[in-house]
Amino acid sequence: MPICFYENERIFKLDTSESSYIFGIYEDGFLVHYYYGAKIPDYNVAEFKYRGGFASVSPTKEYIKDNRFSLDIAPMEYACNSTGDYRIDALSIKNSDGNTATDIRYVSHKIFKGKKGLNGLPSLYANDDGEVTTLEVETIDKVTGAKVTLVYCVFEKLCAMTRSVRVENTSNSAFTIEKIMSCDVDFSGMNYNMYHLYGTWAKERTLAKRHLEHGIQSIQSKRGTSSHNHNPFLALADDFATEDFGSAYGFNLVYSGNFSAEVEVDAYETSRVNIGINPNDFEWELKPNEEFTSPEVVMVFSNNGLGGMSRTFHKLYMNNLIRSKWKNVKRPLLINSWEGSGFDFDSDKLIAMAKHAKNIGIDMLVMDDGWFGHRNCDDSSLGDWYVNENKLKGGLSKLISEVNKLGVKFGIWYEPEMISPESELYKKHPDWCVHVPKREKSIARQQYVIDMTRQDVRDNIFNQMCEVLDNNNIEYLKWDFNRSITEAGSAMLDEKHQLEFFHRFILGTYELMGRITSRYPDILFENCTGGGGRFDPGMLYYSPQIWCSDETDPIERLTIQFGTSMCYPPSSMGAHVSACDRTDWNTKADVALFGTFGYEFDPDKLSEDEIEILKSQVKEYHKYYNVIHFGELYRLISPTENLYRCAWENVSQDKTEMLYTCVTMRTPISQAFFQKFKGLDENKIYLNHSDNKLYSGALLMNAGLNFSNNYSGDDGTSFKIYFTEVNK
Ligand code: DGJ
Repeated sequence: MPICFYENERIFKLDTSESSYIFGIYEDGFLVHYYYGAKIPDYNVAEFKYRGGFASVSPTKEYIKDNRFSLDIAPMEYACNSTGDYRIDALSIKNSDGNTATDIRYVSHKIFKGKKGLNGLPSLYANDDGEVTTLEVETIDKVTGAKVTLVYCVFEKLCAMTRSVRVENTSNSAFTIEKIMSCDVDFSGMNYNMYHLYGTWAKERTLAKRHLEHGIQSIQSKRGTSSHNHNPFLALADDFATEDFGSAYGFNLVYSGNFSAEVEVDAYETSRVNIGINPNDFEWELKPNEEFTSPEVVMVFSNNGLGGMSRTFHKLYMNNLIRSKWKNVKRPLLINSWEGSGFDFDSDKLIAMAKHAKNIGIDMLVMDDGWFGHRNCDDSSLGDWYVNENKLKGGLSKLISEVNKLGVKFGIWYEPEMISPESELYKKHPDWCVHVPKREKSIARQQYVIDMTRQDVRDNIFNQMCEVLDNNNIEYLKWDFNRSITEAGSAMLDEKHQLEFFHRFILGTYELMGRITSRYPDILFENCTGGGGRFDPGMLYYSPQIWCSDETDPIERLTIQFGTSMCYPPSSMGAHVSACDRTDWNTKADVALFGTFGYEFDPDKLSEDEIEILKSQVKEYHKYYNVIHFGELYRLISPTENLYRCAWENVSQDKTEMLYTCVTMRTPISQAFFQKFKGLDENKIYLNHSDNKLYSGALLMNAGLNFSNNYSGDDGTSFKIYFTEVNK
């Protein structure tokens, strides 16, 4: 059984194929955390009871006789505010008396097969009930009447679990949730490195690593999106762990709004990790009988370092998060108009692009920003989602039918959560933008954010989008979001509820995305947030791919894509070959093959020779599609750890096929370059399609190949080697 309750010991044990997660019910119903890590046999379960230290000056309850037990030092399963645990807490409820003392105790639990969805929020799902087992532990805060249910779902085969929390008000008076994290986990010891993904626009998800120190280390977003600046991902790994060895624990929040993730190391060297909605500018009033659900956190354990952790995340998200039918179906190869034309296009220009697309072998043309209202630059028309007939003469249907006649599919761009001050919609509804009374509104990219907390706003945008999508053969939709939220507030919320704004905003976005994606199940959706500012599991639930970054220079992209691959699968990473000229076309394509692969430039500006190069790239894209999209990713040489080169592999699930890619970022004059490969079968024999020689998997992985002389490429060059199993 993946989840067991040991009656005598009052211990819960949650097992996956390689991990155990153990906590128990201590005296008087306190839930105490015992262990998370490599799998431990049931045989030893009685060993897991509270093993506290000396807590003489720490507060405790009078009736607790064990003087080693105090909330000040005990590893808690879900830490509460202001009742004796002074470390970072997970739950803080302000009761009707105005104080924030919070204290939850065990009431009951249930274990069942399968996994429930989360109210209004994206979450992982089970494909069948056998795949997941759920534990719900009900607790109560007797004073506030908050019934707090801790939910654990175990994905036994994938070495992963999810956690979330439900709070129900069972009292007769309202209370306010001030902080509700999706999990907290207390690790004993501090010999861990913390990994996280930081960045900014055009530099998203750069991997950062730091050793844990006493005190609090944290990351957060306050921008209304999960953000370019920090991703809702954090990992702890043994301080000796590498890409392939040691324990790694990944935490990834299924949420696209403001989040916070913290690690506190206390004086007893317990390291407490938590992640959830950012408590900054958050409050949620819960009236009697109302319920609040936290977002879900995905927790992955790996005994095979960060690489093992990443591959588990990838499989989990492909199998149990992304819903679109496109997760298992070969997606169209597209060319996007943005980097080639910006706002400067009309039907003729787009048809010319589609002709090139057809000639090169590209399946789809995506018309990016600039097709609606009277938008010719970024100063107008967001919110006016009707076609600009000055640009698209004869309308959208005419354009699409011309493009389709060429045998090319058609995709479109939207930015549904925005409104331009210069728009018909804003003239009619100036109160529909996000704003607070009496304070001037900040503008960014000449636009405001539209108030997604409002049903009337969402209905209006939904209807406008349906008008276009119902009447045109649109097969792809890019959903953009190009600024952060400021002066956060809604005209629909009274002053007591303004701090609910940020969470209501993202719930509104999810509701609209849910409506649109279920009404158009055949459309391929790509999320985008001014590049990759909402690259998170919440968005992956609605769209199988997300534009990784507006940085399309292949060398810069290496860092972005390596960081992104910490938890997101290659098939989810929007990656295009663009016109940037720092490298040749080969390197551009090799780097774009890390992700979805596509094109983004003006093909009119290319020479005949360049067009021929692109045609051969398209052939390679088809040849390697399966091994990249459905295989496993092994990071070999990190662009942030190695000065000279970056390399990775895509290996098919059955280990019969492997694509190796290496990019030279900087050429050393003297060098020795031996490459050991990973993830192959030692007992298989592989054909190297570059030198036509046979190699055993054992040789490739243990001794490697000597590339010192053969592949000493110039700066910015790249090469690939394809290996396939041969039958001996
Ligand atoms: C930001 C996106 O990242 C770009 O790809 C493009 O769609 C622009 N927005 C359009 O405004």
